[in-house]
Amino acid sequence: MTGSYSESSYSSAGSVSPREREQKTSKGFTDFCVKNIKSAEFGRREIEIAEQEMPGIMILRVKYAENKPLQSARIIGCTHITAQTAVLIETLITAGASVRWAACNIYSTQNEVAAALAEEGIPVFGWKGMSEDDFWWCIEKASNHQNWQANLILDNGGDATHYMKRKYIDKFRCLKGIVEESVTGVHRLYQMTKNNCLPIPAMNINDSVVKGKFDNLYCCREAVIDSLKKTTDIMFGGKQVLICGYGEVGKGCCSALRGMGAIAYVTEIDPICALQACMDGFKVIRVDDAIRIVDIVITATGNKNVIRREHMNKMKNGCIICNMGHTNSEIDVDSLRTPDLTWERVRSHVDHIVWPDGRRIVLIAEGRLANLTCSNVPSFVVSITACTQMLALIELFKAQPNKYKGDVYLLPKKMDEYVASLHLAGFEAQVTELSDDQCQYLGVARNGPFKPNYYR
Ligand SMILES: NC(=O)c1ccc[n+]([C@@H]2O[C@H](COP(=O)([O-])OP(=O)(O)OC[C@H]3O[C@@H](n4cnc5c(N)ncnc54)[C@H](O)[C@@H]3O)[C@@H](O)[C@H]2O)c1
Repeated sequence: MTGSYSESSYSSAGSVSPREREQKTSKGFTDFCVKNIKSAEFGRREIEIAEQEMPGIMILRVKYAENKPLQSARIIGCTHITAQTAVLIETLITAGASVRWAACNIYSTQNEVAAALAEEGIPVFGWKGMSEDDFWWCIEKASNHQNWQANLILDNGGDATHYMKRKYIDKFRCLKGIVEESVTGVHRLYQMTKNNCLPIPAMNINDSVVKGKFDNLYCCREAVIDSLKKTTDIMFGGKQVLICGYGEVGKGCCSALRGMGAIAYVTEIDPICALQACMDGFKVIRVDDAIRIVDIVITATGNKNVIRREHMNKMKNGCIICNMGHTNSEIDVDSLRTPDLTWERVRSHVDHIVWPDGRRIVLIAEGRLANLTCSNVPSFVVSITACTQMLALIELFKAQPNKYKGDVYLLPKKMDEYVASLHLAGFEAQVTELSDDQCQYLGVARNGPFKPNYYR
């Protein structure tokens, strides 16, 4: 095959909703809903490219192909459907699992990748630009299928978890567990435990050391620049940027922007993170005090209504606003849908919101996660997260009946270290081995875990 994929090549898919169209794979499989099954071959190329940069998960694929630790696991997946998650999905299947998969975000699906998965006979439901209604329809399709009872959920944001719990509580109670990767989803799980309404165990992948250190920090450090450049062509040197939240994502964004010569300000609610921002050389201020002067506003808090209409009313003409946090609630986008403001779609995922006096702000991805909507995620970083997800699923699936109860757990430190070691090979890094007396001195085993669970 020559040439490259573009949506326009498949305009026959047209404007008819995928829900309205009957599609079949080359083998006659129909249990899926994607934008256009004909784009599967291009999606396969994307998946193969991702595999090249995902050493850890590919090592696990080879390792688990033989003993199939997930044999008879049935997993509902609700994640971004990208080339990288496709590598995870196919590794889970190689390890013996059967899966049903829905998109966790209405904009982030790589349509051709979803098609490639469907072509392999994987029930996958999601397409880029679907509506909220489509979104819940896809989760329903992934979670409810005759003669198929899930025993695990792999979630990103908690929507599949909450949907199952709300709609299919009996099936929910029978699950062996949930693996959750986002701050927002984890927060919702902890709220459930607080209210005594989490009947099954959940693994908090977001706070596993390798995920937090690499995915949230390094991924966002690279992606924030790419997303803003692709959507706005902005030059960062000398621009004033407000970053809301100095957690892992905020730290990544700040460090990248400073590297490009931007002047970064930080807002924080937590004195520890605020102090870190100060020590890293960023000015910590409140939104109200910076909003009139900044050229770019980036939210990275995992919180809601961090940037509200009252702030946007005061922004500079041309101010760019984007969200790097998980949900679409950090920027109060709904407050901009009033009759006095005009929305102009200037590019894919870029809206100009124009005030009556002609002043305009530039909203990226309607306040949804900017990097996953407008840019690509580095496969290497996703490989790290994918390994933690896979190990957590195996841990829950294989656990003795009373090992885990209805609570939220962290991945054992040893597994975190294992995931890191899977990724070191590509760097030709030589890790130092402890001598016996050093092991004794530190009180650790020669093969780890090298740090206590609380170490970050
Ligand atoms: N864009 C991506 O690719 C990507 C990757 C990983 C995580 N995320 C998402 O990004 C968000 C942040 O993740 P994180 O790992 O940095 O979490 P984190 O908890 O480490 O950091 C969030 C920070 O925001 C602060 N905060 C909360 N409310 C605030 C407010 N109103 N004003 C200012 N600061 C506030 C918190 O004190 C915290 O320090 C989450 O929603 C997460 O799901 C996005």
